[in-house]
Amino acid sequence: MSPSAFSSANIDLGTGPNDLEPHWMPFTANRQFKNAPRLLVEAKDMHYTSTDGRKILDGTAGMWCVNAGHGRQSIVEAVQRQVATMDYAPGFQMGHPMSFALAAKLASMMPGDLDHVFFTNSGSEAVDTALKIALAYHHATGAATRRILIGRARGYHGVGFGGLSVGGMAPNKRQFGNLLGAVDHLQHTHSLDHNAFSRGQPTWGAHLADELDTLAELHGSHNIAAVIVEPMAGSTGVLIPPAGYLERLREICSRHGILLIFDEVITGFGRLGASFACERFDVIPDIVTCAKGLTNATVPMGGVIVRKGIYDTLINNSDQPIELFHGYTYSGHPLACAAGLATLELYRSEGLFERAGELEAYWEEGAHDLRGAPHVIDVRNMGLVAGIELEPRPNEPTARAFEIFLKCYEDGVLIRTTADTIALSPPLVIERSQIDTIFSTIRHCLEKVA
Ligand SMILES: Cc1ncc(COP(=O)(O)O)c(C=O)c1O
Repeated sequence: MSPSAFSSANIDLGTGPNDLEPHWMPFTANRQFKNAPRLLVEAKDMHYTSTDGRKILDGTAGMWCVNAGHGRQSIVEAVQRQVATMDYAPGFQMGHPMSFALAAKLASMMPGDLDHVFFTNSGSEAVDTALKIALAYHHATGAATRRILIGRARGYHGVGFGGLSVGGMAPNKRQFGNLLGAVDHLQHTHSLDHNAFSRGQPTWGAHLADELDTLAELHGSHNIAAVIVEPMAGSTGVLIPPAGYLERLREICSRHGILLIFDEVITGFGRLGASFACERFDVIPDIVTCAKGLTNATVPMGGVIVRKGIYDTLINNSDQPIELFHGYTYSGHPLACAAGLATLELYRSEGLFERAGELEAYWEEGAHDLRGAPHVIDVRNMGLVAGIELEPRPNEPTARAFEIFLKCYEDGVLIRTTADTIALSPPLVIERSQIDTIFSTIRHCLEKVA
């Protein structure tokens, strides 16, 4: 669109677009939003600025992704430099040095022998890539019967057909008919009866991993390719893994030759006070997906990190010149790599993962202070994440939480809600006084709604 077309469409780019209709917004109540839009125009450190000039404290790191805070100079400059130097380079049969540097840096942050990286442009693409790598791996080892993919109820793995199929959030699936056929699901680990108001990992629920043994028996373990779980489920409303659960899943997968995939799109890059959840829980999966915090969300990018044995099997032992027929035009895009390298350096130089760990106890106190506030039926937390579950209004599920979201926004704090749970995940640079502001604003809003 030329500048004159913008003005003829009556769109003021900076301060207040008037024609909202053509943009079909993602995961949004479009009609409701367009009647009362909430538009952000600037972001710096812990705050957004809205079109009406208000400062909004970011309690969600955008969408679990701006881990170093907004508008960080070193990342901005790295992207600016890169776009001026080389805007794009083809990634098939060609390369550029930065994608190799970023892969090496990312691999060096990972525990165990998770040491090879495939780049994508989003979490959804990372998940679909991981599932395809798992299937291709078994194909390469001659275990061609291993085709079944196991996810978990309430899991969120993005919106590609693969991720949707192994995902377990019903509203995301019900409009799309048949997804992948060879899929089954473990049950989720959430239980208010056993675990309400747990601090950190709940003590009840490790045995739920044993359901994988049952599925292995049911389908035949020689038919199962992989299990994918979020080590801490975020988008479904913050479900912290019960103590011992992930360890048990690992043991059962190893026993049956099933690959274990951790979807760390949310838990990667310090969210739980360690580089990745697999480091925090000391459970090494075979494949890790990541995105979001990889570039501090400045340029879209995702990645799949695999253990050495998977790379060796698929690449070094291949008899084909092109070993994996998979990739994206923008895999390892130069701007994303520049952003990623600057971001990982910032995380290191400012010790942000450690900082998240140091703040965890203060954050936990703030979150659990909401126990007893109106409508609160559970508080869950780990690292710099909290889930505050509200009693749904009779016959009006999700409405109360959404009203709290709107009221907090009016009061200058950005939160997220998923169904009837408030999900909080601020940038890791948050100050204690800002933690206080987030929880006191939520309390105040809880007291105001029916
Ligand atoms: C665990 C998990 N996997 C995958 C995704 C999808 O990522 P994207 O929205 O970048 O496609 C998300 C997004 O929130 C996620 O939380």
